[in-house]
Amino acid sequence: MRHIIKDKNIVIGISGGIAAYKSAELLRLIKKQDANVRVVMTHNAGYFVNPLTFEALSGKPVYTDPFEKGGNTEIRHIEWAENTDAVVLAPATANIIGKIANGIADDALSTFLLAVTCPVLICPSMNTNMYNKISVKRNIEILKKDGYFIVEPVSGELACGTSGQGRLPDPEQILDRLVYCLCPKDFKDKRVVVTAGPTREHIDPVRYISNPSSGKMGYAIARAAEHRGADVTLITGPVNLEPPVNVKTVSAVSADDMAKAVFDSVEHCDIIIKTAAVADYRPKEKARQKIKKSLGEITLILQKNEDILFKLGENKNNHILVGFAAETQNLEENAKDKLARKNLDIIVGNLVGERIDGNDYGNEDEKSPVFGMDTNKAVFFFRNGDTEYLPLMEKDMLAHVLLDRIRDL
Ligand code: CTP
Repeated sequence: MRHIIKDKNIVIGISGGIAAYKSAELLRLIKKQDANVRVVMTHNAGYFVNPLTFEALSGKPVYTDPFEKGGNTEIRHIEWAENTDAVVLAPATANIIGKIANGIADDALSTFLLAVTCPVLICPSMNTNMYNKISVKRNIEILKKDGYFIVEPVSGELACGTSGQGRLPDPEQILDRLVYCLCPKDFKDKRVVVTAGPTREHIDPVRYISNPSSGKMGYAIARAAEHRGADVTLITGPVNLEPPVNVKTVSAVSADDMAKAVFDSVEHCDIIIKTAAVADYRPKEKARQKIKKSLGEITLILQKNEDILFKLGENKNNHILVGFAAETQNLEENAKDKLARKNLDIIVGNLVGERIDGNDYGNEDEKSPVFGMDTNKAVFFFRNGDTEYLPLMEKDMLAHVLLDRIRDL
C-alpha cells in the first residue's frame, strides 16, 4: 500500500462531529505511509479537537480561517487545493455534506473543497436518524453522482447513546479506501479469482492436517486487484484476516471445498491466482467421533487430493494462470517443473527457511520464513523462460508487482 500513497499530498478535512478524535489516528496512519498530510478544519471541529493536536501530528499549520491575517493565508484554499492528490473528509457531518452537494463555500473547509480537483473521499458520521433523513440521503446521492467516493458509516453504539448506522469506520478502513481512490484502475472490467490460506483435512471432528499458511499473500493480492478496479473473488481457507472490502469472499475448509469453490467461480474469469497452500493429501477415513487414545501406535492412511491448479491448466482457455511454489530446496528446478506441468503463465517461487545459493539475494541472516510474515522475498518464473529475482518486500507491494507483470502479459 505504501508505494501508492508515499510522497502524495493528502489533506484531511475535519468537520464538527464527535468522531473528529478518530481523525488524529487516521492522520498518524497516513503519515506512517510516508505521505505528506495537511489538515483543514471547520470552526466547530475545533470544539471537539483543538487544531493544535493536528498541527503537532502533521507538523504543518492547520487551515481553519480563510480570513486569517498574515503570511499567504488569503489564497491558502487555492494553493493547497492545487497541490493536493486526495482529500479525506472524516468525519463528514450532515452540514458539510449539504454544503458540498450544493456548491456552498462559506468557511475554510467548504471553500477548500470547492476548489479541489483531485479525488475526494467522504466519510459521513452522525446520529442514525440524521443519517437516514431524506435530505441527507439525497445530498449523499448527489455527491455519488458528482464523482465523490463515499465510505458508508458502520453500525454500532453512537456517542448520543443510541445504536445504529452512523459510526465512522476504523481509520485502517478509511486508509484502505484512500488507497483505492489513488490507485490507477488498470484492471477495470477484469475478473480475478484468488485463492488464499491453508486447507484443513480433518482426521476427526477435533483434529486436522494443515500447514502454517497465514493467507496474507493471497489477501494482499485480492486487495491490490480490487484497488486497481478488478472484480475480485477470494476463495479462502481458514485464516485470521479481515475480508477485503468490495471483494466477494468465499470460505473453504478442505481441499475438496476449495476445489468446488474454485471450479464454481472461474467461468468467464480473466485471471486466476492460486496462492493457497492446498493440502496434497487427506485422511482416507474421517472419524465421526473424536478418536480416543489407545495403547499402541495408530496408522493414518492418506489419500491424494485433486490438484486444482493442474486441472485449471488442463482446461485453460484465454485466462492467465498464476501459481505459487514454496520450496525448501531446488527452487528454480521445482518451480519451473510446476510451471510447465500445470500449464502456468507465471509461478511465484519462495524458498522457505533457506538461503538461496548462487545469487545475491538471501544470506544466512535473511532467511525467508514466508509463512505468517508481512514480507516476502520471491522469484517470478515466466512461461517464456524469463526469471525475475525480487528483493525482500512487503506482501502488499509484492502483490502490486505481480499484478504489474500480469498486466504486461
Ligand atoms: N495446488 C493446487 N491444488 C493442490 C495442490 C497445489 O491448486 N492440490 C496449487 C497451489 O495453490 C500452488 C501450486 O499448486 O499454486 C503449487 O503448490 P505446491 O504444493 O507447491 O505444489 P505441488 O504440485 O503440490 O507439489 P509438491 O507439494 O510436491 O511440491
